[in-house]
Amino acid sequence: MVVETGNGNKPKGPWHSLIDLGAGDGATTAHVAHLFEKVYATDISAPMRWALAKRKFTVLDVEKWYESGPFNVILCLNLLDRCDRPNTLLRRLKSSLASGGRLVVALVLPFSPYVEVGERDDHKPSEYLPVKGNGLEGQIASLVDRVFTPLSLRCLVWSKLPYLCEGDLGQAYYFLDDVVFVLEAQPDSSQYSASEWTNTEPSGYKRSDVVEQQTGHERKCYTGKSHL
Ligand SMILES: C[S@@+](CC[C@H](N)C(=O)[O-])C[C@H]1O[C@@H](n2cnc3c(N)ncnc32)[C@H](O)[C@@H]1O
Repeated sequence: MVVETGNGNKPKGPWHSLIDLGAGDGATTAHVAHLFEKVYATDISAPMRWALAKRKFTVLDVEKWYESGPFNVILCLNLLDRCDRPNTLLRRLKSSLASGGRLVVALVLPFSPYVEVGERDDHKPSEYLPVKGNGLEGQIASLVDRVFTPLSLRCLVWSKLPYLCEGDLGQAYYFLDDVVFVLEAQPDSSQYSASEWTNTEPSGYKRSDVVEQQTGHERKCYTGKSHL
């Protein structure tokens, strides 16, 4: 992203507003907040909302954040595998992007959802996201082809980061792959939407064992970059 800064730290150009969804304690948000005039954040956890407010971000309701849009840049970092309704969220993300805006999605792959606060009591999401594929490349292709493209979200660029995860008695930390996608909204042209694939869990849907085995069941929120 190129941001012209002509007046102090305030951006000159289209980048007026940022929202970071599932922002945790806002440590990542803080790295880019100075580029925007308005910075919004959400988190479902009350302690995290407190931490976000302490950083002076405008904390919005997790169910109503989109009413404050549209936003020039939306961050959705390591949230899609932690929220109960990822398809609903993705549709709202797209419709909340300002014209020319960018959506930044980060996701630990292989995809292994674990929902702490959801409608089900087994920590599975209420909505199924059709991420399949072998290996990192297969999972990335699946996300682009089966999740983003049907929603008319075009992947402009992606990159891989290390994601440090709190370990167990056997190992202090686990290194997972976090993939970051920069997306732009395109006019709707698809004949189908992701929700048609996804709202129910198909037979044979099986969460990847890999990350569950690596992390126990709860992945702590250490996005790798600032912890290496
Ligand atoms: C894995 S952490 C990611 C934190 C931060 N975005 C990062 O990448 O370092 C996921 C965060 O999403 C929050 N969360 C889970 N479901 C949510 C929802 N529906 N809306 C907003 N936040 C949610 C959790 O409380 C947690 O802080």
